[in-house]
Amino acid sequence: PRIAVLISGRGSNMASLLAAAQAPGFPAQIALVAANRPEAAGLAHARAAGLATEALDHEAYPDRAAFDRALDAALRRHGIDLVVLAGFMRVLTPGFVEAWAGRMLNIHPSLLPLFRGTRTHAQALAAGVRLHGCTVHFVVPELDAGPIVAQAAVPVLPQDDVQTLSARVLVQEHRLYPAAVALVASGRAVLDGDRVVFGPGAG
Ligand code: GRF
Repeated sequence: PRIAVLISGRGSNMASLLAAAQAPGFPAQIALVAANRPEAAGLAHARAAGLATEALDHEAYPDRAAFDRALDAALRRHGIDLVVLAGFMRVLTPGFVEAWAGRMLNIHPSLLPLFRGTRTHAQALAAGVRLHGCTVHFVVPELDAGPIVAQAAVPVLPQDDVQTLSARVLVQEHRLYPAAVALVASGRAVLDGDRVVFGPGAG
């Protein structure tokens, strides 16, 4: 399958996906990196790696639906099969999400269903949990609510602040996302209605 990675900023998860996809045997090809901000640092990294990129400045579109139509057109132009949101900080319209149902993944920096939305590390510290982590899930119209493909947990240490905790989670994101994308790209994890069906070798 041909993958598009969608970013808004730094792109460290995108970089980990690029690295993983270069290894022999990875079951998919990263065919496009797209961003909703032309200045996203990850775009430069993708260009330097020789990848096709699309910068779709969301401010240039009159509304969400128009932006999503342009994004959908770009994905089709590049023959994309699977959309991978990696730090993509833009809510997608239900119409777009339905069009890519079962073919779009997101990584969220918490152990869902805990701590949806933004500032997840601050939420975890405020709640006093001793375990935190990250989740890869299929995207559904409701934010951070889709069926779960994979999760990784890290301890919350007594002296943690947002910076130390987010760094510990990010290490796991960089490991988890390529593994989860490989599961879906190879058909070993498939969305069936509102649950994920795992095949042999899915762990
Ligand atoms: C990651 O923590 C991701 O889980 C969250 O935003 C951050 C993006 O980081 N949604 P990067 O752009 O992949 O470096």
